[in-house]
Amino acid sequence: MRALCLSPDYRAWRAGPGQASRFRLTAGASADALAEAGFAVEGQLMLRVNERAGRLFATDGVWVDAERRVFPFDDESGTLLRLAGRLGWSSPDAVIDLACGCGHSALGFDAAQRVMLDVNPRALAYAEVNRILNQVPNASTVIALNDVRDGVPRGLVRGLRGTVLVIANMPFGLAPRSGVLPLTSDGGEDGLALQNAVLESLAALRRELPAVTRLQALMLGLTAGSAAEARWDWPRRVAATLGEGRARWSLLHDEPVLRIDGRRSGANPSPLRDALPALADCTLYVGDAERESVRQAYRALATRHEAAGRPDLAYGAVAVELA
Ligand SMILES: C[S@@+](CC[C@H](N)C(=O)[O-])C[C@H]1O[C@@H](n2cnc3c(N)ncnc32)[C@H](O)[C@@H]1O
Repeated sequence: MRALCLSPDYRAWRAGPGQASRFRLTAGASADALAEAGFAVEGQLMLRVNERAGRLFATDGVWVDAERRVFPFDDESGTLLRLAGRLGWSSPDAVIDLACGCGHSALGFDAAQRVMLDVNPRALAYAEVNRILNQVPNASTVIALNDVRDGVPRGLVRGLRGTVLVIANMPFGLAPRSGVLPLTSDGGEDGLALQNAVLESLAALRRELPAVTRLQALMLGLTAGSAAEARWDWPRRVAATLGEGRARWSLLHDEPVLRIDGRRSGANPSPLRDALPALADCTLYVGDAERESVRQAYRALATRHEAAGRPDLAYGAVAVELA
């Protein structure tokens, strides 16, 4: 898998529109080993492989049905891990990932304990494969099915002690209606549908984990707001739920605001009236037959946000310390 990730053909496939179908392996030792592991069939790679900071991650490719597809991309996880490093939060005693996908983020931390949750059973199967691939001990890892809207099951976190870091890379794409974005990206009309559930879960964890000495949270997301006034909906929502002065909002100016055809693009922040309709150009997610109706639906959504005093879109992170 490592040799595959380093090969120029695979790197080109991963970065372009070719990733809409399975990667075709060239004959050789890597192809034979991948076939023997069951990862390749008749010369085709059945999954996508990402390599980050020396760790390997098997996950779905974008050809898998959007209803059950496991998140294919690892750049958001790279951003989250970098931010944790800048905050000095890279080595907590425990990590709780509220939407772990294949484990890109949770398996990237040096932590004694990991709790990895997701609503998609297929993601949990990949998370277990990746735990084994990266030699993370079974005894220190819990991988469990959970909908963040139900909170965090108390029994899974009761024994945690010391510094506990909660990470959340929830679906945060703005969706004009359901079905436009895949399960991994649909954050409702304002991108915050599941971010609100994360905040409720954090408030409950603070009440229920008295033996934890430090509870920290690091979340990624998109938010509507006003660039001119430096006013963004999501950090305001965090402050309203968890208390003023606890949330540190970072607008990620160096990170493009959207993902189109697998690649991030667009200035961050951007006016919603430019950014949202551009999502209809994504050939990986939007078919030709529905492209124009999706574009119109996004234009209408941008207009609704503008009318409510939110003309812009920003991609950023919120860090919270719930001591
Ligand atoms: C943007 S992906 C990120 C996955 C992973 N953190 C990564 O970086 O690869 C969002 C994840 O949220 C999960 N998800 C969607 N709705 C959820 C819910 N209600 N509760 C828990 N997880 C959910 C999806 O299955 C998906 O794995």
